[in-house]
Amino acid sequence: MSTLFPPLQQARIQGMDQYQALCGEAERDYPAYWARLAREFLSWKKPFTQALNDSQAPFFKWFEDGLLNVSYNCLDRHVEAGRGERTALIFETDDGQVRPVTYRELLALTSRMANALKSRGVKKGDRVVIYMPMSVEGVAAMQACARIGATHSVVFGGFSAQSLRDRIQDAGAVLLITADEQMRGGKALALKSIVDEALADHCCPTLKDVLVYRRTGGAVAWTEGRDLWLHEVMAGQSDHCEPEWVEAEHPLFLLYTSGSTGKPKGVQHSSGGYLLHAALTTSWTFDLQDSDVFWCTADIGWVTGHSYIAYGPLALGGTEVVFEGVPTFPDAGRFWQMIQKHKVTVFYTAPTAIRSLIKAAETVPTVHPKNYDLSSLRILGSVGEPINPAAWEWYYQNVGGGRCPIVDTFWQTETGGHMITPLPGVTPMAPGSCTLPFPGIQAAIVDEMGNDVPNGTGGILVVKKPWPSMIRTIWGDPERFKKSYYPEELKGYYLAGDGAIRNAETGYFTITGRIDDVLNVSGHRMGTMEIESALVAHTELVAEAAVVGRPDDVTGEAICAFVVLKRARPTGEEAKAIANELRNWVAKEIGPIAKPKEIRFGDNLPKTRSGKIMRRLLRSLAKGEAVTQDTSTLENPAILDQLAKAN
Ligand code: PRX
Repeated sequence: MSTLFPPLQQARIQGMDQYQALCGEAERDYPAYWARLAREFLSWKKPFTQALNDSQAPFFKWFEDGLLNVSYNCLDRHVEAGRGERTALIFETDDGQVRPVTYRELLALTSRMANALKSRGVKKGDRVVIYMPMSVEGVAAMQACARIGATHSVVFGGFSAQSLRDRIQDAGAVLLITADEQMRGGKALALKSIVDEALADHCCPTLKDVLVYRRTGGAVAWTEGRDLWLHEVMAGQSDHCEPEWVEAEHPLFLLYTSGSTGKPKGVQHSSGGYLLHAALTTSWTFDLQDSDVFWCTADIGWVTGHSYIAYGPLALGGTEVVFEGVPTFPDAGRFWQMIQKHKVTVFYTAPTAIRSLIKAAETVPTVHPKNYDLSSLRILGSVGEPINPAAWEWYYQNVGGGRCPIVDTFWQTETGGHMITPLPGVTPMAPGSCTLPFPGIQAAIVDEMGNDVPNGTGGILVVKKPWPSMIRTIWGDPERFKKSYYPEELKGYYLAGDGAIRNAETGYFTITGRIDDVLNVSGHRMGTMEIESALVAHTELVAEAAVVGRPDDVTGEAICAFVVLKRARPTGEEAKAIANELRNWVAKEIGPIAKPKEIRFGDNLPKTRSGKIMRRLLRSLAKGEAVTQDTSTLENPAILDQLAKAN
């Protein structure tokens, strides 16, 4: 494995010696290591006396008797320290208008919004769903919930009415914050009307109010007694709001994510432990300094937008870009143009975005990064899916000018922050590898019984000890939490759900992909079962469906669905039309990100005699590979020929 090592001046972590020293400190006294960092990185109203309580494992508690407020840590303490005039957010709209927001302003806005929520009766422990575009107000809404101890659940603006409804119901939300519309790529897209559809027929009885942020001024339908303009509720509210001091374990947020079975699960995160790791990783992985301009291109609807937009950078008093739009508007040079314009120093994005921008730069030379001044950059980051070495190389050379370390950060919604990642200027890099665990994270690779496997042998990725920002439970389903993440045979280790392998020489980790029925499409997690359920919910047309992933040049994985209809198998134009109808149906059921790239129709699906669908055969067919597996247990082998071809 070849390694690269661009040095970084004045990094927070100085070299591998310090990395090893930190790992050693955690090894010697694990709770004391985290306690030291929790005292250094966070401000506590009441200090904790015990770092870890593992008496009810796997329901671990961190800093349990400490009191703090997340919003105080992200805003007030910087203003109190005389840093109120520092820029917190540099917000850029879809059409390129820029709105800088200082810490003092963000605190005032957050406080007014927090008071507005209180005026509607929202109190500590209530759940608030946020369905908003990327905006200053979106970040402030999250901070406002944190300020009053309400637990937020942000739903990505690309999810459908049905998905939104499921999440509101599961969370038992009392209030929803949305916008009239969102602007993406020059187009106004509805949000409020999707909310109206989600709330139709009084299906969400816990929900009392809908606060609507006016983003575009587009026409919206109005339900009296339920809908309120956010600016009207905020008008006249004080810009002072005393933070609600909460226990460290108080749930800061729920974030729904896909698993291998059933409906998406509400991953519950804590306040103290979560914020600690968001802040710590922003400091060490991104080496965030006062002089930096940080830009994470994620949406606040995903965990990356939580930890590295709404919380981590603000906890450190950093300056960050928040972007409303898409990387391809007005052209595919948008990211590079914004890096140049805002003199971004640390840039964090997903491999899918990089791969699509490589394609764009190859076809339209004017959007190639070489046409922009990217000399402000000093660190690049990657997240959400494996970055293939070719994309890594291009990112390194063409965006980073061969100067900037790339931090390939492996983590998950459940982990709250980075788990395995290079530290910039410290860890020699290897394209395609997320290298070594973050100091204090006990990542390992084991076999199915939880025994360590030697380096060079693939296995199951686990984390042997609990860590502060780990998932606390699945909202309303502690049994599912235990079963999904702490299966009995794994000796009390956290099961990540990914396969991995360590390099025999360097010990570096490479993630080899999910070991369950979860797909990763453009860095978004999708459960195959979820898409199958959506397809068979079209009861008029669909008899049976099986969904698998196949490799895709741009999106990493693509969704391929095999469908048996209730009518004769269609071909030609009819097949195209039905496939289209089903793709739109899935978009409506889940969201456009879940649309299958390809749908193939069959008279049947390949099944064993006991009726089990043989998905591994479908995976081969989807890839266009010849089926080499044993098919002797198959009841209907002839079906393979039919499904091998596109319709
Ligand atoms: O399969 C891994 C992949 O994304 C999954 C987590 O998805 P999600 O919870 O949506 O969080 C994405 C943002 C943190 C993981 O189980 N994944 C994430 N980062 C990487 C990755 N795979 C390889 N390399 C990464 N750097």
